[in-house]
Amino acid sequence: MDAARFVPQTPFRYTLGSRIVPGVRLSIATHERLIRPARNICGSLKLPGDKSISHRYAMLAAFAEGTSRFTNFSTGADCASTLACMEALGAKVNRIGEAVEITGVAGRVTPADHPLNCGNSGSTMRFISGLLAPQEGTFTLFGDASLSRRPMERVRKPLAEMGAQVTLIDGHAPITIEGRRLHAIDYTTPVPSAQIKSCVLLAGLQTEGTTTLREAVRTRDHSELALRAFGATLTRTIDSVSITGPQLLHGIEAAVPGDISSAAFFLCAAALFPGSGLVLDSIGLNPTRATLLDVLTALGARVAVLNLEEKHAELVGTVQISAPEEGLGSTTVSGALAAQLIDELPVLAAIAPYTSGGIRIRDANELRVKESDRIALVARNLRAMGAEVEEFEDGLDVPGGQKLHGAAIDAGGDHRIAMAFSVAALRAEGETLVQGAESAAISFPEFFDLLDLVAER
Ligand code: S3P
Repeated sequence: MDAARFVPQTPFRYTLGSRIVPGVRLSIATHERLIRPARNICGSLKLPGDKSISHRYAMLAAFAEGTSRFTNFSTGADCASTLACMEALGAKVNRIGEAVEITGVAGRVTPADHPLNCGNSGSTMRFISGLLAPQEGTFTLFGDASLSRRPMERVRKPLAEMGAQVTLIDGHAPITIEGRRLHAIDYTTPVPSAQIKSCVLLAGLQTEGTTTLREAVRTRDHSELALRAFGATLTRTIDSVSITGPQLLHGIEAAVPGDISSAAFFLCAAALFPGSGLVLDSIGLNPTRATLLDVLTALGARVAVLNLEEKHAELVGTVQISAPEEGLGSTTVSGALAAQLIDELPVLAAIAPYTSGGIRIRDANELRVKESDRIALVARNLRAMGAEVEEFEDGLDVPGGQKLHGAAIDAGGDHRIAMAFSVAALRAEGETLVQGAESAAISFPEFFDLLDLVAER
């Protein structure tokens, strides 16, 4: 495969807070991407819509009565998988660039005449399992090689407790669902997972009685907020959420906030360069997702949030970041923080060698069952760049004060690994070749183009 040499886009001058890149010409990420070191990170960007929120808005809109319209919908392949599955189940989907219009099935899907392809997307597969378990008909869900390796017993178990007929192969997809009437349950999730929570809530929405989901660590609450936005009633305590079914949802219009997990790559990149200045407009700042801002602040970065507003109960604001002159310090991420930062841990680990005191990650076993084994792959790629790193079953110790060199990086088909090491490459000596760079398109197809806009070379 040929290395895709980047053809520079129109240079963009940075003016604090006053300019947003309006629309960027995109180039398709190819299999390999060469990343040259940067001198600085400066600029102002508006990022595509949040993947987690886009999945939920798409699924609820497709299930609701009426027509919904979303702007700044996620451009990633994962959300396209959700749209395609919901279309196969009878919803009408009209996509115009980053806007999408969805007319829902008013609570009753049409049994698809073919297996539903969830692609690389765990959210699609786990959410749809909950949505379909109480529906009439037989459904099969499958995914790519990575998704077929990921644990699905975690959704089969609560659904089976509700009386659902869900069959896996050795704990994995393909998933076959024989839809039937379910009964309400009170379920405590053994793993902190918003995907399990969402699956149970989507089944509970359609089930007579009150279904309660309890979690020891509060995971992202987009499903709770989105269900309410679509007209559902649910009750919450500090560690539980209950929904009494059946309830009918109603379509909405919404602008999806920018994806903070995509912003994470730019925030971490900017945190590495004294003199940097980056402004990210309209970013989703839901408190269950914005922990990275606290971590970067604890590391010494100067982070400011402006123009905070609420849209359908989701917080949205402008984030400004600049790096400390003295460089980043050190931190430990463990316990509940590890669950809340789960998608940002690869990039935090990838920049850890450039901190003064290193980053220690624990209680992050879930990283092993993401799109790849992210603990093993982060450790392997850090070592390829010459870093010292210690791997644990549930995390990593990455000492600070290290110098990295450019290397061939194996993204392992995992979007967050491809992007995390593209960020690490900005401060390395020499060029880095990210192999499997096309996987960035799973969540963030614009990533490489936007990186080239803000990376000064
Ligand atoms: C997600 C929840 C997390 C996260 C994933 C998206 C969601 O997964 O890693 O990228 O949108 O609910 P788990 O719920 O399995 O931890």
